[in-house]
Amino acid sequence: MPKKSIEQLDLSTKCRLLTGSAFWQSAECADIGMQSATLSDGPHGLRVQDRMPNHLGIGTSCPSTCFPTAAAMASSWDVELGEELGAYLGAEAAFMGVNMVLGPGLNIKRSPKCGRNFEYFSEDAYLSGRFAAAYVQGIQRNGTAACIKHYAVNSRERGRMVYDCRVDEQTLRETYLTGFEIAVKEGRPAAVMTAYNKVNGTYCNSSRRLVNDILRGEWGFDGLVVSDWGGTYDKAASVRAGVDLEMPRCNFSPAEAEEAVRSGRLDERLVDIAISRQLKFSERAHMVRAKDVDWQEHSRFARRCAENCLVLLKNEKGALPLAVGERVALIGDFARTPRYQGAGSSLVNPTFLDNIYDEMLGSSVELVGFARGFRRDGRHDPALAREAVKLASSADTIVLCMGLGEGMELESADRADLCLPQVQTALLNELSALGKKIVVVLSCGGVVDTSWDDKCAALIHAHLAGQSGGAAVVGVLTGEVNPSGRLAESYPLREEDVPCHEIYNKHAYKMDYAEGIYVGYKYYNPLGIPVKYPFGYGLSYTDFEYTDAVCDGKSVSVTVKNIGARRGAAVVQLYVRAPRAELEHSPSELKGFKKVFLDAGDSARVCIPFDDYTFRVWDMPAGCWKEEGSYLVALGTDSRTFFFTDTVVRGRVPAFDGQKLTFSQYFSARLSPEEPKRKPEKGRLVAGMLTEIYDLKYCKGTVARLFAWISRMYGRSRDELLAHSMVHLPIRFILLFMKFNEVQAEGFLEACNGSFFRGLKKMIFKKR
Ligand code: BGC
Repeated sequence: MPKKSIEQLDLSTKCRLLTGSAFWQSAECADIGMQSATLSDGPHGLRVQDRMPNHLGIGTSCPSTCFPTAAAMASSWDVELGEELGAYLGAEAAFMGVNMVLGPGLNIKRSPKCGRNFEYFSEDAYLSGRFAAAYVQGIQRNGTAACIKHYAVNSRERGRMVYDCRVDEQTLRETYLTGFEIAVKEGRPAAVMTAYNKVNGTYCNSSRRLVNDILRGEWGFDGLVVSDWGGTYDKAASVRAGVDLEMPRCNFSPAEAEEAVRSGRLDERLVDIAISRQLKFSERAHMVRAKDVDWQEHSRFARRCAENCLVLLKNEKGALPLAVGERVALIGDFARTPRYQGAGSSLVNPTFLDNIYDEMLGSSVELVGFARGFRRDGRHDPALAREAVKLASSADTIVLCMGLGEGMELESADRADLCLPQVQTALLNELSALGKKIVVVLSCGGVVDTSWDDKCAALIHAHLAGQSGGAAVVGVLTGEVNPSGRLAESYPLREEDVPCHEIYNKHAYKMDYAEGIYVGYKYYNPLGIPVKYPFGYGLSYTDFEYTDAVCDGKSVSVTVKNIGARRGAAVVQLYVRAPRAELEHSPSELKGFKKVFLDAGDSARVCIPFDDYTFRVWDMPAGCWKEEGSYLVALGTDSRTFFFTDTVVRGRVPAFDGQKLTFSQYFSARLSPEEPKRKPEKGRLVAGMLTEIYDLKYCKGTVARLFAWISRMYGRSRDELLAHSMVHLPIRFILLFMKFNEVQAEGFLEACNGSFFRGLKKMIFKKR
């Protein structure tokens, strides 16, 4: 029985409870009966660390099932499968003593270059939201908590703790918040994690508007709001915004909070509220009953997921499936050493790992041999290529496994471009000169340039398909599995076609979301920009017929018939074009979808009901959602191929006699003025917790300038993108991870501001 109520705790105890008790543990307080909970990454498998805790995927973690990443799962277009995956995650979490799974992540893939795209579902808010809600429901089925992340508008890894997303309200609501809204309202997650970045000048973690007003106020979220690891910048502002728990443990944060309350900058009642939400969470977290985990069964399920995710992008003249006994040369480093997950905080230590080579040995084709073909780090090795060409000459068919190396898709850095390493495409060219059938299997977590695909007869996108992805790929190659995935992001023809291409990496500090709502297919399709493979696209080994489509004002229905010779799945997609009278190019947007599995010759009636998100547009002047107008409703097999259209009129159709905006007018109107100079006009910069390392060079203390210089040097010795992330980190972030207490933190700032010896004394002796 608790001995005290929250109000009866003294202020310093209360403030201690606003930060974790360790790297992965929330706060605890026996007096009020609050037990600590264990939080753990992540979205496609658990990363439970028994030693060397860190948030970057460095070091070891306990084995757990590595399921396909979110990008792969979204390509299944099967939310029931997503929910099941969540349930498997929840079960493993309970077994491993984890109370909260830090996932799913559902940031929008604004640019295919974002290094963490593999961890996110889609470029589309509706698809992302539906999947996130399904994962949440699955994870929470046994009581384990899910924590959706990163709220909000986090779409670049470079400088993720620094940049300010400048985004208009309509784009914010429709593109970047709708997914979270769906996940919150339909999934009812126990927790939400704030993002590192700023939105329109305010850190998400300090944003009262995002957390208190929108998340809690408008969407009715009553759970826990947690910071990203080290993502609390201003303690008082964070609590005022409605954030309940700072993670990981920060040694100086209790003193900051206490000082803020004493000085009147923070209302103590808000501290009490944050603790009460933690208490509620802790009560719920400790009710979960763990059961034994059948790891083999989990691995089999991971394989089932992978089988549903793979997307067949090209299949000329029935190149696939391979015939029984077909003589295959298996080429490519990825065939034997699979690329099955991304790097960073989501890194899982898998319980098992298959590969295409081993799986092919026991399959229906004749494996002539394997050749590595290339180095995955992109370095040239002519001997490997020669060996591959020699092997290929002795086979009928070449299966070439290409992809991105481990260092190319990771947290904290973005990709330099969309290309595969040149050694891989060069090998494809050499192999194609042999004139044999080539099937390419692509392993990567995001979009790559596929301008080389005229050299292959078939192309399978295997994504990062988890620990049992090899078996799934061989299943598709041999026809044991009929591919049923559809792209959850567009494949542009050229990188320059991406709507935010010229501005995405332009500034370290500001990110103008000038393309607004025109993200991915919502840009390519209405503007008629050709793409390599459209959003929603994917082939099957069977064919479908769509008849008797009707729209009754509440839903759309269609009869789908499998007219091919084998069982397969169709994905019926509903797109709606909202009345946006002011835009010259108004996009059609995904508003529903249904995957249906049918035996050869079978048919089914598929009904997609309209929901709260079907008919709505953010009304900028009124500052609310509006529904009235005439909507075009279309059913299709991808975002460009429709077999049925109709019109639905909601309310009164508003008249519009203004001037329509072209895309370039719309884009230019959203560009913000150049950044102000960072150097102080006169005098020296006074370092505070929010000062970035880069700016320490403007401070008085030699130690500050030395620190800035070292970090720049460190940065220069590595990847340029990584360097950017490093030098723009706010001081508070560094001090937290250096485990400084409040006196040491104060001493550090004093040393930076010129009082070297006084500061040093505090840092060493930890006393005032
Ligand atoms: C990531 C989060 C992750 C956390 C803990 C952060 O760097 O952004 O997604 O949950 O670390 O590992």
